[in-house]
Amino acid sequence: MNVYIAGVATTPFGELWDVSPRSLANDVVNRAIRDAGIEKNNIEALFVGNMLSGMLGRQEHLGAFFSDSLGMHVPAFKVEGACASGGLAAHMAILSVLSGQYTTVCVLGVEKMTDHKPEDVSAALAGAGSDEERMSGATFPALYALLARVHMHRFGTTQEQLASVAVKNHFHASMNPNAQFKNLLTVEKVLQSSMVADPLHLLDCSPISDGASAVIITSKPSHPIHAIQVLASSVATDTLDIARRSSLDELRATRIAAKKAYTQAGILPKDIQVLEVHDCFTIAEILAMEDLGIYEKGKAAKAIEEGKTRLDGDFDRVVNSSGGLKGCGHPVGATGVKQLVEIVEQLRRSAGKRQVPNARYGLTHNVGGSGATAVVHILCTNRQ
Ligand code: COA
Repeated sequence: MNVYIAGVATTPFGELWDVSPRSLANDVVNRAIRDAGIEKNNIEALFVGNMLSGMLGRQEHLGAFFSDSLGMHVPAFKVEGACASGGLAAHMAILSVLSGQYTTVCVLGVEKMTDHKPEDVSAALAGAGSDEERMSGATFPALYALLARVHMHRFGTTQEQLASVAVKNHFHASMNPNAQFKNLLTVEKVLQSSMVADPLHLLDCSPISDGASAVIITSKPSHPIHAIQVLASSVATDTLDIARRSSLDELRATRIAAKKAYTQAGILPKDIQVLEVHDCFTIAEILAMEDLGIYEKGKAAKAIEEGKTRLDGDFDRVVNSSGGLKGCGHPVGATGVKQLVEIVEQLRRSAGKRQVPNARYGLTHNVGGSGATAVVHILCTNRQ
């Protein structure tokens, strides 16, 4: 059986103080349904990706909460896997259709973060780490700073190369009407921004964001040309605690999920023309490009710095055309779904100024915590 993404929608990401989670969800789900050319009563189940509604929003019954507010009253599930919640929800939705239980389901990724105090948000995000990491006060910027230090030590990666990831992703975000940051950066500006966790500056970090995205998954699309086929959906996990990993110059869960995904899709890393990867910090994009097998270990930072993944550069493939988490924003539970929205737009050739020419295969890569969960999807268009 083939499975497709038939409809997509996203809200702008950013500080959306005047909208509730309910209205964010209603907006994207209704638009995704229209985009798929179906009616609300065609949706047989709802999968919600969210991380923080319990800790920050005091709402712990999110499946029913949204199926009720959307007026659907279908089987509804909250799927949680830290910042990979959206990707995991899509994975579960795809499996539910592949199982034959449902024909058409909806995936909603949604998060409201900016209504809360920054220290409460940081503490809630730290819930994705191990008890030991939390007890030692290690927040996510600190954990990724450790990974960055290992990479710099082992492969000679420089702070300028880290900064070039942020510069590229803000450039792509400047062409995305839904992005949180549309301002262009320079390497100097990144290096002059305040230090958050050495060597990561403020402009090496993804921001705190609000936003929602939705996709419709189906085995029977009404508009086959408009629908984009899901060739692979895979998940892997690793130790929660980075101190227990055998190697800190890679995210092993990404490597495992990617290997399974390429096998499912029957393609190789070199076949992919457009990727949305999890750049929660600049080092994370460098690790992703190596662990996804796009570049050899130790080679991604130079390639990114040389413009090999940048839309206006001499690119081999384009990475994070949406602006990624860095430029587009990172409402954690929505991110994995927004990545799918961007790749679908790219493969439909409807990405406007961000369009990557002739893209046939696209990949999304969504990570939870410091790499304890990784989700990889590979999508394909049948257009020539
Ligand atoms: N990129 C670009 N600009 C940013 C930014 C970011 N990541 N974070 C904040 N800003 C901007 C704000 O818009 C603001 O600009 P303004 O003065 O023009 O309004 C300014 O920088 C200060 O913002 P503020 O909200 O005071 O920042 P902060 O110091 O409270 O938070 C971080 C900055 C980097 C600590 C915070 O964004 C953060 O914790 N990011 C990581 C989130 C995370 O861990 N996610 C999970 C990943 S696994």
